[in-house]
Amino acid sequence: MTTSTSSPAASSAAPFRQVTVALAERSYTVHIGHGVQRLLPRVVSALGARKAVVVTARPPEQTPDPKVPSLVVSTRDGEEAKDLAAVTDLCRRFVEFGLTRSDVVVSCGGGTTTDTVGLAAALYHRGTPVVHVPTSLLAQVDASVGGKTAVNLPEGKNLVGAYWQPAAVLCDLDHLTTLPEREWRNGLGEIARCHFIGAPDLDGLPLLDQIAASVTLKAGIVAADERDAGLRHILNYGHTLGHALERATGFALRHGEGVAIGTVFAGRLAGALGRIGPGRVAEHHDVVARYGLPTALPAQVSVAELVELMRLDKKATDGLTFVLDGPDGPGLVPGIPEDTVSATLAAMPREPAG
Ligand code: GLY
Repeated sequence: MTTSTSSPAASSAAPFRQVTVALAERSYTVHIGHGVQRLLPRVVSALGARKAVVVTARPPEQTPDPKVPSLVVSTRDGEEAKDLAAVTDLCRRFVEFGLTRSDVVVSCGGGTTTDTVGLAAALYHRGTPVVHVPTSLLAQVDASVGGKTAVNLPEGKNLVGAYWQPAAVLCDLDHLTTLPEREWRNGLGEIARCHFIGAPDLDGLPLLDQIAASVTLKAGIVAADERDAGLRHILNYGHTLGHALERATGFALRHGEGVAIGTVFAGRLAGALGRIGPGRVAEHHDVVARYGLPTALPAQVSVAELVELMRLDKKATDGLTFVLDGPDGPGLVPGIPEDTVSATLAAMPREPAG
């Protein structure tokens, strides 16, 4: 699934990777490497698009040029801008520019930008091609790949969305050179959880290979279960507690940090249920710690609040539900007794107060 072949991006001799997301007529390539956003004109030309709207959260000098008549729309990364009003605004800009569904929309930004722009593209003229140029580690290893698009409602995150696969994804590592520390952690949380869902031993590999392996793992899962009917749930390893921690801390804890703690907890819960042995439980802690990610619960969150938040998880159709490791690998485990969940949470180490 991962190949290294010649392409314009290789003209600088920088190593790169290509991963195919195999979805029949909706298959596409994820290009990963330094400078790969230079491939955008070729991608746009192959689509036959005559115009493009580029929605960018990056400054002009870092925004890719599709080399067709374009409208550049500036946006900001962040959950606060990820709503239906933003989708409406984008679609109105598309109309004003005369974009047709034979043209193309390009997103350039973090996961909130690829999510919002992806949904606008999915809805505009009932579906217009979109190319993602993800600029954060989180967006490169997860958000931009697999076709999930969504925006938030006041009632919760990602409650309105659609599946809309991109025509291509250009993961340009140049965008990561100025990534703030917290943003790294955000992406590393998603890479760390890959260890338990089919891509062990990424830690210590060059960044390019870690990203390519994470994308390859996700591409295989999406190809097998595009609409999240079963297997795709395992991508949410560590996310049930992770999402609850994000909410309980008022999003002071970043997504990847919550997923990291959630991964440690998932190991402990699987151990408490007798699904894995002590060595594998400890491995959950050790892998997360090796990435320099948090392994302990924040001081201020209460077990009861976390349990209530986890009941609201989208996967929880039959009581408390977690993706857990087990003798046959990771899988969705519904109906876990509340006292087991609470006791396992209560036994987690805590960050010192203050
Ligand atoms: N981020 C989880 C998924 O794409 O299914």
